[in-house]
Amino acid sequence: MEKGSRLILAIGITALLSGCQSQSGYNPLDDFEQIDPASIFATPEPIPSSTYTTEQIQRGKYLVGLLGCGACHTDGALLGTPNSSLLLAGSSVGIAYTSPFVDDDPGVVYPANLTPDLETGLGSWTMERLVTMIRVGTTEHSASSVPVMPWPAYAGIEYDDALSMAAYLKSLAPIRHDVPNNVDEGDTAIAPYVHFGVYWSRE
Ligand code: HEC
Repeated sequence: MEKGSRLILAIGITALLSGCQSQSGYNPLDDFEQIDPASIFATPEPIPSSTYTTEQIQRGKYLVGLLGCGACHTDGALLGTPNSSLLLAGSSVGIAYTSPFVDDDPGVVYPANLTPDLETGLGSWTMERLVTMIRVGTTEHSASSVPVMPWPAYAGIEYDDALSMAAYLKSLAPIRHDVPNNVDEGDTAIAPYVHFGVYWSRE
């Protein structure tokens, strides 16, 4: 964009904002909630393991925190109030993957419990399956990748790094926490959900 047109755009936006403010006394820039980044990127302490090396687990902990897995996979995090006793144990708030503006009953996915609980978490997952999930977004029973989870952004993670992340998740204290079942498009969601304004298509 040229310098001149950028300036006009900036003035246009300023005029629009000040217009809103003078008419209603409402300033959209005041209307946001401060979320504590420390809790969204927090990673629970792992249990010492004889299966994986300390280096592997610490590297995995660092990467899981850096990549913000807990921003979706922690209860309350999507609403700005992460529950620190359920870090990485799944979210009972879902994310719409089709537009709720177009369809009253959008498809909704619920970020899964990533702790190694046998029934509600990743306890029975093999390391290979976890690595594939992180880098390609596919589960064992499905050829197509899951919606919403930003696996394309993780696709460049090196194999050993993804393996370290899997080792860290496998070394967490298992937390028994069921998340609601995913909802197909057209079905009514019982549990709450948010949407990011970014939607996914099956094609
Ligand atoms: C933007 C939200 C979001 C982020 C960030 C995210 N995920 Fe997910 N993830 C999801 C959703 C939603 C699902 C469930 C998809 C489904 O069931 O179809 C999921 C599923 C998974 C699963 C499969 C679990 C199961 O039981 O099926 C694993 C493993 C996983 N994520 C790991 C991670 C890791 C590791 C990170 C960080 C590197 C991460 N996710 C970051 C949203 C997210």
